Amino acid sequence: MASVYLFVIFVLSHLLVHSATEGNLNHANCTPFYCGKFGSIGFPFAKSTNSSCGLLTVDCDETTPMIQVGREGRSYNAINISQSNTSYATIRIKDQVLQEHLNLRRCSLLGTLTFPNSPVVSFEITTPNQTLFKCKRTLINLTLPRNFKNTSCNDYNIYYSHSNHTSPSFPPECSIIQLPKSGTSPDDADLYALLTADFNLEVHVSLDCISCHNRGGQCQNSRGGEFNCATGKKGM
Ligand SMILES: *[C@@H]1O[C@H](CO)[C@@H](O)[C@H](O)[C@H]1NC(C)=O
Ligand SMILES: *[C@@H]1O[C@H](CO)[C@@H](O)[C@H](O)[C@H]1NC(C)=O
Ligand SMILES: *[C@@H]1O[C@H](CO)[C@@H](O)[C@H](O)[C@H]1NC(C)=O
Ligand SMILES: *[C@@H]1O[C@H](CO)[C@@H](O)[C@H](O)[C@H]1NC(C)=O
Ligand SMILES: *[C@@H]1O[C@H](CO)[C@@H](O)[C@H](O)[C@H]1NC(C)=O
Ligand SMILES: *[C@@H]1O[C@H](CO)[C@@H](O)[C@H](O)[C@H]1NC(C)=O
Ligand SMILES: *[C@@H]1O[C@H](CO)[C@@H](O)[C@H](O)[C@H]1NC(C)=O
Repeated sequence: MASVYLFVIFVLSHLLVHSATEGNLNHANCTPFYCGKFGSIGFPFAKSTNSSCGLLTVDCDETTPMIQVGREGRSYNAINISQSNTSYATIRIKDQVLQEHLNLRRCSLLGTLTFPNSPVVSFEITTPNQTLFKCKRTLINLTLPRNFKNTSCNDYNIYYSHSNHTSPSFPPECSIIQLPKSGTSPDDADLYALLTADFNLEVHVSLDCISCHNRGGQCQNSRGGEFNCATGKKGM
């Protein structure tokens, strides 16, 4: 009888120890952390000192906190971080490169902003955007559509409208640029005052990644661009 008891206890304790380590493969020290004015945040955010804990790393200690948006992404000024749960957050960031282009009126360097969307995490700008049509000067013989303004830019003209009415069709040779629109610019604002480098970005972590994270794994994009859940056991 006693030996049966001992055996049951042995099996039970083994199971318990096993599941405890199983659940903590890589995350033993990846807990939510206090991040200055943003308060307590956790996955998918990580402190820059342990970037392997998350997908967006934040320098919380700086006077101008920076956030790297995605493991392969660029860094931006972090203005606000508001996290609902591990799968959804809204951040407000400032793109300093865009800000400098706007300050120096570098029209030729304006381009639609891109973020490293992947099967792990995706990003969406939720600040309304301003559409610009950039057309080669020689390529086009068009009368300025009603409500549209025109700024010349090297060999191009850039057309934009303050109103959000359906835009007239521009020739397909024109490229379309979408950039965050300032909510406060006056009606007669020029192109550079109409745009802003401060905008809100929604962060969506995929269900695959959440489930991988909950199992103690690390979300990765494989070379082929597919989702991969790394559950390396070397940490045990
Ligand atoms: C994360 O950083 C804390 C200290 O800030 C450290 O104690 C912990 O071990 C780190 N975790 C990982 C997984 O590197
Ligand atoms: C940050 O965003 C949240 C949610 O949108 C908002 O309630 C809060 O006031 C913002 N904080 C700052 C400092 O802007
Ligand atoms: C996360 O928060 C968002 C926004 O509040 C909500 O729509 C979503 O259902 C939540 N997801 C989970 C898994 O709780
Ligand atoms: C611009 O806004 C439209 C409508 O809200 C949206 O569909 C589109 O994805 C936005 N483009 C960018 C680059 O944010
Ligand atoms: C360009 O516009 C002018 C004046 O509107 C017109 O006379 C001319 O035929 C147009 N050229 C082309 C190639 O469409
Ligand atoms: C746009 O502006 C440029 C330079 O000011 C001018 O040469 C061009 O004719 C304008 N285009 C239209 C359609 O008004
Ligand atoms: C255009 O702007 C008006 C007010 O500024 C807004 O009510 C309307 O929904 C907008 N339309 C589109 C298509 O964004």
